[in-house]
Amino acid sequence: MTIIVFGGSGFIGSRFINLWASRKDTKIINVDKLTYAANQDYLHKVNNSDKYTFYHEDITNKKQINEIVDKHQPTIFINFAAESHVDNSIKASEQFIITNVVGTHVLLEIYRQYCNSRAGTKFIQISTDEVFGDLKPYDQPFCEQSKYDPRNPYSASKASSDHLVLSYINTYALPLLLTNCTNNYGPNQYEEKLIPKTIKSIMKGDKITIYGKGDNIRDWIYVDDHCDALIKIIESENMHNRYNIGSQNEVDNLSIVKMICNKLSKLEISLPKDPLSLISFVDDRLGHDKRYSIDNTRITEEYKWQPTTSFDNGIDKTIEYYVKSLLYK
Ligand SMILES: NC(=O)c1ccc[n+]([C@@H]2O[C@H](COP(=O)([O-])OP(=O)(O)OC[C@H]3O[C@@H](n4cnc5c(N)ncnc54)[C@H](O)[C@@H]3O)[C@@H](O)[C@H]2O)c1
Repeated sequence: MTIIVFGGSGFIGSRFINLWASRKDTKIINVDKLTYAANQDYLHKVNNSDKYTFYHEDITNKKQINEIVDKHQPTIFINFAAESHVDNSIKASEQFIITNVVGTHVLLEIYRQYCNSRAGTKFIQISTDEVFGDLKPYDQPFCEQSKYDPRNPYSASKASSDHLVLSYINTYALPLLLTNCTNNYGPNQYEEKLIPKTIKSIMKGDKITIYGKGDNIRDWIYVDDHCDALIKIIESENMHNRYNIGSQNEVDNLSIVKMICNKLSKLEISLPKDPLSLISFVDDRLGHDKRYSIDNTRITEEYKWQPTTSFDNGIDKTIEYYVKSLLYK
């Protein structure tokens, strides 16, 4: 078996490759454009393996991707490649459309041709709960049938690629799978995102900026639990074409920041300032969604999958990783 991973040098993709390599004895092809969010060091455990091949390539480059697929004849395709930061999409959205929409379309077209002549393959597209929009406090969590309502350019680009995947399932009856996951956290995440940004600010004694009142709620999952769910989906006979993945762990931003401040204060390291004194509220993000939450009933019932990392433990592991990497930089 050969797996081809698109965007395997970013946060979730690199954790996925590491977990996959620790469990499976297969060839792994990683195709990544290496944007600012990527880091080849995340893959140090597999970089020198003869089972692992890396291509520095853009998923919109149809000719090159076709050649890679032809050469390696993968069984499993999994696409993590994306522009992933909402704030960047608000400042400039063009690259989000190019990578997330056009890039996904290129991969789907390549796969459509390829899987006609190759039985037993699967394509998994990784997406987000943000495509479903904003929940009120009393609303039920998003399920697989929830209506799409993307409300920023990032989520609109991901919703567009979801629609392409769903349309290819309906039109061509291809073995395509779509997963929509909640907010991931853990090692290897680029420092623009809330949790690594907060840890870094505390270590440097910089302001910890929080949008609005800090009352926006996200449903947080430890990245390896997400990757474990993806492996279950790849290994199984799939009864459905789409799965929501989440940890049923809703937390507001201010509580997360305070939790990190308190945990870092208790470590035996010297910090430049009292972490809680660094908290600074700034104007809210434009169009900021208040709450996301995922109903994970389908995946937990069909695959007996459960997240295994508690938020407390996951945050400890994440802090340990960033503190070490910042101390020894
Ligand atoms: N991070 C989250 O909380 C979260 C939650 C749910 C879903 N997702 C989705 O999971 C996927 C991975 O997210 P992430 O947080 O790891 O993102 P990331 O930004 O950390 O990594 C994205 C990777 O894709 C690569 N890439 C970008 N454009 C490319 C292109 N044109 N061609 C080839 N490679 C390209 C980057 O170099 C990087 O390695 C995305 O599709 C994202 O929408 C993320």
